[in-house]
Amino acid sequence: MLYNFTYLLAFLVCYSHADSMLSTCQVEDILFAVPQYQCPTNYTLFNRYNGAYCIQVFYNTTVNYTSALSQCISINATLSSIENYNEAYFILSQSQTLSRNVSGGVWIGGLRRSVCYGSDYLKNQACQPVKTFSFYWTDGFVEGTTGFGYWMDGQPDNSASVENCLALQSTAASWSTNSTSLLLDYECSRTRAMLGYACGQPATLVEDNGDDDDYDEEEDDV
Ligand SMILES: *[C@@H]1O[C@H](CO)[C@@H](O)[C@H](O)[C@H]1NC(C)=O
Ligand SMILES: *[C@@H]1O[C@H](CO)[C@@H](O)[C@H](O)[C@H]1NC(C)=O
Ligand SMILES: *[C@@H]1O[C@H](CO)[C@@H](O)[C@H](O)[C@H]1NC(C)=O
Ligand SMILES: *[C@@H]1O[C@H](CO)[C@@H](O)[C@H](O)[C@H]1NC(C)=O
Ligand SMILES: *[C@@H]1O[C@H](CO)[C@@H](O)[C@H](O)[C@H]1NC(C)=O
Ligand SMILES: *[C@@H]1O[C@H](CO)[C@@H](O)[C@H](O)[C@H]1NC(C)=O
Repeated sequence: MLYNFTYLLAFLVCYSHADSMLSTCQVEDILFAVPQYQCPTNYTLFNRYNGAYCIQVFYNTTVNYTSALSQCISINATLSSIENYNEAYFILSQSQTLSRNVSGGVWIGGLRRSVCYGSDYLKNQACQPVKTFSFYWTDGFVEGTTGFGYWMDGQPDNSASVENCLALQSTAASWSTNSTSLLLDYECSRTRAMLGYACGQPATLVEDNGDDDDYDEEEDDV
């Protein structure tokens, strides 16, 4: 898929005349094409703060976190982070389509920070607040605590102190009602009630088409 964005910037440029009280101003419009990004077949493009990113959801009900990650790596991607609700919504709606509305977990690229493992994480100041500082995104394309805003009620709970991997909980209900209670921590070896995983990779910059210096002017005297 090719995404094309064109922006128009206008500058107001003024010149003072030494021999009068008048200034001449003119609007200079510079129309240029900003970089175009492309995703591989079957990926969908998302514009992130750090650049364009591509996500694809794969249906596989027998994958744990580790095999989901290696299946992404085998196609030159990695498990995807989530930057915002749009991306979470996309992953959920795709997994619901692929699973024919069966509920379940979708692995994404988030892990508990190792300093927050075990039962002591609630006492560790470095893991507070628990919903934002206990985890990190593994793909490096979403920074800091961004995207950690969509926990299900009571999550993360680090049940039995072994839930170190992140998934989105996909249900037709949360999808069709746009619920923002989506994220949970799971045991990484879990395969029970999983639907698949979301792979991500940066988008590719498409060759410049040479049209980026189209130039247009109009004059206004003030
Ligand atoms: C894209 O998805 C279609 C439909 O599921 C599939 O037939 C095709 O093989 C996929 N192509 C790639 C490159 O993944
Ligand atoms: C699903 O995951 C299992 C376990 O990792 C793997 O053996 C299998 O090939 C995967 N199936 C598909 C269709 O990718
Ligand atoms: C992954 O990258 C390798 C090396 O560049 C390439 O040969 C292979 O076709 C790529 N695989 C996919 C699924 O894009
Ligand atoms: C899945 O749920 C959506 C939203 O409720 C519905 O539009 C769609 O027809 C359902 N698909 C299947 C295969 O049941
Ligand atoms: C849920 O959000 C999506 C994406 O923002 C939107 O297209 C859809 O109409 C919303 N659905 C409902 C039921 O609000
Ligand atoms: C994940 O699944 C793979 C393939 O089924 C298996 O070899 C591996 O031991 C599992 N890893 C964990 C942590 O359960």
